[in-house]
Amino acid sequence: MTTPKTHPSIALPSPFAAPILLQTPTHPPNPNEALIKVTWTCSTPLDLHRSAGNLAIPSYPFILGTAFAGTITTLWLSPSLSSSPGLNINKELHETLKEGDRVFGFVSDGNPREAGFQEYVTVPVHKISKLPQNVDWGLREAVTVPTNLVTAFHCLTADLGLQLPWPKPRGFRPPQEGKRVLVWGGGSSVGLYVVQVLKHWGYDHVVAVASGKHHEELRRLGARVCFDYRNPGVVGEIGRYLDREGGAGPRIPYFVDCIGSRDGTLKPLSEIAERGSKVAVMLPVIEVNAAEGRRPVFAADVKNVEGVVWQEGVEVRGVRTLDYEQNPFYRDKLQPEIIPALLAQGVIQPNKARVVEGATLLERAQNALQLLRDQAPSGERLVWRVSEDEQ
Ligand SMILES: NC(=O)c1ccc[n+]([C@@H]2O[C@H](COP(=O)([O-])OP(=O)(O)OC[C@H]3O[C@@H](n4cnc5c(N)ncnc54)[C@H](OP(=O)(O)O)[C@@H]3O)[C@@H](O)[C@H]2O)c1
Repeated sequence: MTTPKTHPSIALPSPFAAPILLQTPTHPPNPNEALIKVTWTCSTPLDLHRSAGNLAIPSYPFILGTAFAGTITTLWLSPSLSSSPGLNINKELHETLKEGDRVFGFVSDGNPREAGFQEYVTVPVHKISKLPQNVDWGLREAVTVPTNLVTAFHCLTADLGLQLPWPKPRGFRPPQEGKRVLVWGGGSSVGLYVVQVLKHWGYDHVVAVASGKHHEELRRLGARVCFDYRNPGVVGEIGRYLDREGGAGPRIPYFVDCIGSRDGTLKPLSEIAERGSKVAVMLPVIEVNAAEGRRPVFAADVKNVEGVVWQEGVEVRGVRTLDYEQNPFYRDKLQPEIIPALLAQGVIQPNKARVVEGATLLERAQNALQLLRDQAPSGERLVWRVSEDEQ
């Protein structure tokens, strides 16, 4: 197959402007990189934060997309597999990669080589997961996985300090076994992966907060008890549950705020967290949501959000998944080894994929952005086709 010199991509052209279609260069792979023809990508709230809120964009045009799923067209594994400085590449594993493989991964948007909203991405092998052969779903579902499964590992370990040893030792029980972890926003894409990871590593007292329609699924995935955030008395209900359960120390030592909304999550969490609690908050903290004709407003500092008063001794941390490679073990293992293994074992179920239609690439990207602006996704990931001629 001949590779075109340029290909279509979806990019933000300037601050607060709508995305446009660009023709961008196709980058031949360097050693230990693959060129991948992208079949599916997914839209996430970050796209809305970037486009409507101009969030952390260093330069334009800015190609969007933190995930890809597609087929390897060219692979360059250097003979020693050592030409990527500092990378402890799993030689045996990478040598199983080959042209024609169906793969997916979490990548940095804004990086013109790897951003997901384009027909060809050029990605280092440590950001590639191979689609397991034994699963009864395909690339469309796979593309829902990498961004927020990486987020789940990153926030639970880097921000909360929980142990998720890999490979999981036989009979492993975490030192924090029995301690409660409250996952606020359990019905979100992040929340669904966080609950599954916690269950697998034996965190058996997960309290999930999500709208009632997700409770059955959350219990199936690993939550012990669920509360509905749409109920105005939810904070009191959680408090009464914790009083009944008793226990020493902070009643909930670990919190994952999967949403990062000043009024919707930080305020209620600040009424529950106590001295000794750790709270990991998905950034950005949203003070005002984007809406038709309205720009979003983000808080500058997760620890000092107007109107949110934490009790003394509560540790609040902002989650930044794009930093996950700072952990060399996860940089080398998470995408190539851990994620495919957990999917193959059936430990992790992909999010429900909601297909966004549109006659052109740009239309599909725009339609997805509109659904995000309308806050339409609920317990699902918005996915859309990039290349038409691949399966
Ligand atoms: N900084 C990072 O590293 C990082 C990484 C990943 C994600 N994020 C951010 O985290 C946020 C969530 O991402 P996502 O991909 O998981 O989004 P998502 O699945 O599209 O979020 C939609 C879900 O949010 C839930 N929700 C909205 N308001 C809520 C509230 N007040 N309480 C509980 N649930 C609420 C809804 O739940 P119901 O269906 O129950 O109504 C809905 O299912 C986004 O702002 C994203 O940018 C940050």
